Amino acid sequence: MKKLLFQLDTDAHPAVFDTVVAYDGGADHVIGHGNCTPDNVTPLVEGAIFTRAPKEKKHTALFIGGSDMMAGEALFKAVQENFFADFRVSVMLDSNGSNTTAAAGVAKLMTSGAIAGKKAVILAGTGPVGQRAAVMMAKEGAEITITSREMARAEQACKNIKAGFDVDATPVEATDNDARGKAIEDAQVVFAAGAAGIELLEPHHWQDNANLELIADANATPPLGVGGTEMFDRGEERSGKIIWGAIGFGTLKLAVHRASIEKLFERNDQVFDAEEIFALARDMA
Ligand SMILES: NC(=O)c1ccc[n+]([C@@H]2O[C@H](COP(=O)([O-])OP(=O)(O)OC[C@H]3O[C@@H](n4cnc5c(N)ncnc54)[C@H](OP(=O)(O)O)[C@@H]3O)[C@@H](O)[C@H]2O)c1
Repeated sequence: MKKLLFQLDTDAHPAVFDTVVAYDGGADHVIGHGNCTPDNVTPLVEGAIFTRAPKEKKHTALFIGGSDMMAGEALFKAVQENFFADFRVSVMLDSNGSNTTAAAGVAKLMTSGAIAGKKAVILAGTGPVGQRAAVMMAKEGAEITITSREMARAEQACKNIKAGFDVDATPVEATDNDARGKAIEDAQVVFAAGAAGIELLEPHHWQDNANLELIADANATPPLGVGGTEMFDRGEERSGKIIWGAIGFGTLKLAVHRASIEKLFERNDQVFDAEEIFALARDMA
């Protein structure tokens, strides 16, 4: 029986990246639908859950993607509201690569040192990757701070992760590189989650910080988020700190994405969000 993956995207065009990884993850056929919303998704979900016999349902799975994380989260919830009894299929959320990227970055950081009980600052942590990294690190026992250029955005991100995952984070406004340098003064861990091509810290903001132990930077588009690091850094020691660059953990990100797709087809009742994808990344790191 063919493994069918329905790619439900909140953008107009289902992401090509997600389609390619879906095939590489073992789907026999990937069917993309764009502009998916909670209001129009029910017929698509019903088509997935009512068509195959109980033992065959694991050969159908759903993937929620798109550039808008909040739209993705709403769609993910709406999809699951259509499930009942054994009328369900496995489903994964990875809007903007949020879960797989954050999971790979945090898992690789944790191969270089413990984060439990440490202060971890997620720089520009208001985006999809930053919010998911905050969740994963908080669940591992780190004390989380999320910075934003605007206090209201930092507060909203903290509220989102509290509501979604019951984890706490402290919001901090940091309008420029100097303010972000100050925000990490007493931190042991930094996860830079800023937009592509945006420098968040210059070398002098972190190189002489004696408290800092571990740094990850998700931005692979120069200039990098953390000046003085390299995107290919794979647990590289620089100025006494261990650095993971975006390409350095990007290989694991792709592997985790593929492995998640493969796992979707193992059973028909799996829900892959931050915790499940992070658990997989930890095993694979
Ligand atoms: N390595 C990989 O495999 C991989 C995969 C996917 C994504 N990524 C990268 O991961 C990073 C995070 O992705 P994302 O989708 O979560 O990012 P995003 O939503 O595009 O941006 C994250 C945050 O960056 C801040 N920002 C935007 N412009 C800024 C500026 N001019 N100055 C300072 N801060 C600014 C914003 O925070 P505030 O407005 O709140 O300040 C925004 O919420 C990106 O660099 C992305 O390219 C890497």
